[in-house]
Amino acid sequence: MRIVIHASAAAASRGLADFLARSLRRTPALVLGLPTGRTPIGLYADLVHLSRQGRADFSRAMTFNLDEFVGLGARDPRSYHAFMRRNLFDHVNVASSRLQFLNGRARSWRREAARYERLIAAAGGLDLVILGIGDNGHLGFNEPASSLEPHTHCAVLRPRTRRANAWLFGGDWRRVPRRALSMGIGTILSARGVVLLATGSAKAAIVRRAIAGPVTTRVPASLLQLHPNVVVVLDRHAAARLSRRRRRAAP
Ligand code: PGA
Repeated sequence: MRIVIHASAAAASRGLADFLARSLRRTPALVLGLPTGRTPIGLYADLVHLSRQGRADFSRAMTFNLDEFVGLGARDPRSYHAFMRRNLFDHVNVASSRLQFLNGRARSWRREAARYERLIAAAGGLDLVILGIGDNGHLGFNEPASSLEPHTHCAVLRPRTRRANAWLFGGDWRRVPRRALSMGIGTILSARGVVLLATGSAKAAIVRRAIAGPVTTRVPASLLQLHPNVVVVLDRHAAARLSRRRRRAAP
């Protein structure tokens, strides 16, 4: 794993936005996996800024969102679909037809999951997945468990994860759906490249367990240690619990 440590969350977002803009210049038809959550909000704002300056071109890119709450449609402002439009897609030159989302209102989640996997395969697989990390180590909605689902599936959310999402639901975690559709851990690990973005001291302990702890389904992010092409982008607060040796090795 390559670890990059920035002085602040803002610098981490800017650094990753620059990296994505360069990747889009090199590979205009990039197939991206994208996260929601509080962490990537700054990244998306920086990408909008770069796009307005003509330095990030999404016109040929294709995107797959990582996950979606069961029961919420695209028009529901609390859905991840709406979050992505609000924070990124409404403001950059991307064609709607190239944006893929899991449909939280699909009648059969099995069929919906299979449809998503087929679409990813038809796109030639994911070139690059950007991930946040839950404070319990989840990736997408792959929650800690004794075993993990390889493919896109319907996940039961832990109370801790529902609490972490309460901000989208007027601060009331009981309104956060109990289930969500999510890419599986295998879907994520099959991407050619992975970037994990984590900022803030609340993530320091789990970042350490994900990077330096044993590989275990109890910390789904630790499975990234098995992937040959992972970059971990941190601010100094999220990096604070890493050993000095790891911090010194980071550029
Ligand atoms: P957060 O969520 O960015 O809101 O902390 C991250 C995640 O759960 O993946």
